[in-house]
Amino acid sequence: LFASIEMAPRDPILGITEAYNADKNPNKSNLGVGVYYDDNGKVPLLECVRKAEALLMEKPAARSYLPIDGLAAYDKAVQELVFGADSKVIQEKRAVTAQALGGTGGLKLGADFLKRFSPNSQVWISDPSWENHRALFESAGFVVNNYPYYDAATKGVNFEGMIGSLKTIPAGSIVVLHACCHNPTGADLTDAQWKEVIQVVTERGLIPFLDMAYQGFGDGIAEDGKVVRQFAEAGGPVFISNSFSKSFSLYGERVGALSIVAVTADEAARVLSQLKRVIRTNYSNPPTHGGQVVATVLSTPELRKLWEDELAGMRVRIREMREAFVNKLKEKAPDHNFDFVTKQRGMFSYSGLTKPQVDKLRDEYAIYAVDTGRICVAALNTRNIDYVIDAIAKVIK
Ligand code: LMR
Repeated sequence: LFASIEMAPRDPILGITEAYNADKNPNKSNLGVGVYYDDNGKVPLLECVRKAEALLMEKPAARSYLPIDGLAAYDKAVQELVFGADSKVIQEKRAVTAQALGGTGGLKLGADFLKRFSPNSQVWISDPSWENHRALFESAGFVVNNYPYYDAATKGVNFEGMIGSLKTIPAGSIVVLHACCHNPTGADLTDAQWKEVIQVVTERGLIPFLDMAYQGFGDGIAEDGKVVRQFAEAGGPVFISNSFSKSFSLYGERVGALSIVAVTADEAARVLSQLKRVIRTNYSNPPTHGGQVVATVLSTPELRKLWEDELAGMRVRIREMREAFVNKLKEKAPDHNFDFVTKQRGMFSYSGLTKPQVDKLRDEYAIYAVDTGRICVAALNTRNIDYVIDAIAKVIK
């Protein structure tokens, strides 16, 4: 059975962490994976999470099975967060939400659901997109195509290319969109451009699948969730995967969700019943701890406020690192212009570094980035930034 099995390639993102962990260089930096580190280079345990865990420990409870679609309080809190507490789709019971294993889990549930009910659709992802989008939808059985997105010349969005492509994609196609903080480029659409995208997607009968893994890392929680609300108001169907890995620093707890907006409440009830079948035949039901922590924080006003402040702190620190990155490179590599880095949103910068430069950074300086040149700005701090900037300045010479 195993004799003819070939070695699979390393994962393009998590494989970098494997290589980084094995590196003995004391100056090593992992700018590969999308993880927020604090100024000490540590993944933070948020104070709101610590307090929620303390509250939960005051009344220790046995861990029975959660419902197939997760903790009810969690699903409700997620809906209010992604659609807004006063959302019509919630009032009209047109939105259903299932707790999922991180944002990736939400995407996978949506992909499996769509393969069952829209088996002939093809999937369209941005060029470029998160490395795992293509692999995930292909492994669910879809043909995956690209729509134009990034313009290397302007370091921004090739909107004409994107909208032109959306106008030609066949009705019923699944279009994966990054609701905010585009991964990997950090280049987001403007409000006016989103309006046009929503109109084209709705009029042409495309199925939007919004990936929102970085809510709160762009301009704020409500600001970053705006596009989800606009899509929901446009009528549905809409798929949304969201994640608390980054925004709650709960990576290993695998806390995320899949929400689906249906056209009527009756449709929504049938959709949820089928979604539960997808979950039950996959991993049965989700784990308890992460969902309880997030539900506790989101539904306790004092903790919710603390979370918003802590999330704002992460957002601001990343922006400071973007500024420092650009200013320091101006000194060390005056022939190059990195001003675009301060315009990018979220954790990442599509730095423009080439694959040979990324290789050199890793081999000679123990600085790990994604092969495409994506770097995680949230992994920079006041201690490692000078070393990283010196190295980048040398490899781009
Ligand atoms: C990333 O893009 O680095 C993160 O979303 C982590 C992951 O699962 O790939």
